[in-house]
Amino acid sequence: MKLTKEQLERFDRDGYLFFPNMFSAGEAETLNRAAADVYALDREEVWRESSGVPRTAFAAHTYNEAFRRLGAHPRLVDPVMQVLGGEIYMHQYKVNAKAAFDGEVWQWHQDYGTWARDDDMPEPRAMNISVFLDDVTAANGPLLFIPGSHKLGIVEAGHDLGTTSYPLWTLSQAKVKELAKRGGCVAPTGPAGSMLMFSSLLVHASPPNISPFGRTIVYLSLCHVDNHIRKFKRKEWIAHRDFTPIVPLADDCLDELVAASVAAG
Ligand code: SIN
Ligand code: MN
Repeated sequence: MKLTKEQLERFDRDGYLFFPNMFSAGEAETLNRAAADVYALDREEVWRESSGVPRTAFAAHTYNEAFRRLGAHPRLVDPVMQVLGGEIYMHQYKVNAKAAFDGEVWQWHQDYGTWARDDDMPEPRAMNISVFLDDVTAANGPLLFIPGSHKLGIVEAGHDLGTTSYPLWTLSQAKVKELAKRGGCVAPTGPAGSMLMFSSLLVHASPPNISPFGRTIVYLSLCHVDNHIRKFKRKEWIAHRDFTPIVPLADDCLDELVAASVAAG
């Protein structure tokens, strides 16, 4: 898949692109079942909310076959290679649950703010590309973006170690207010299988999910191979140290898993 000139211009202006229904309902359902399998594992990579429900599973591409294939899926890898201009490696991989009723907040932040400060990633030549595994609606804790905020470089932030189980460099309310005055605030929503690509500098957050519907989203954080991290402070399964370029698989790489999932009923 190649991004058009118009899409590239929109990405440059807004800091994100949204692609509804990029993956089929069958692909999303198969990956959502894989997410349930992963959350059932007793592994250090699977983090839980204070209530015990899953929050996120890191590095699921290293211990689950469906997520391994998704980690090299051309619909995800090709557009990022196009924008970053060359070979890329997997900096981080997470399957975020935002569970029904108990899914907690992700505070306002920029991902590159954390990658620069904690991992010493030299430049923001990295970005997120995500796939919705559930329908994402206004009700179940969608991502919130401040369009255009990726143009501002690294914004001042404080290290929040207490709000949730996951430490994050977060922006003050005053800063978010100031940025949103200029850019507004949007929540891309759509059916399971939709894809969302966003700049590592884009300011974003998501509210808690008190709805009865889960909101699972899988995120690949992809970085140009020349721009790999220099500091190895965080766990290897949070900030990867394998800088091998990703070789995209075939577009139908999930098909046999979808067929097996359908056969299993
Ligand atoms: C993130 O910002 O990395 C995750 C936010 C979410 O899944 O809601
Ligand atoms: Mn983030």
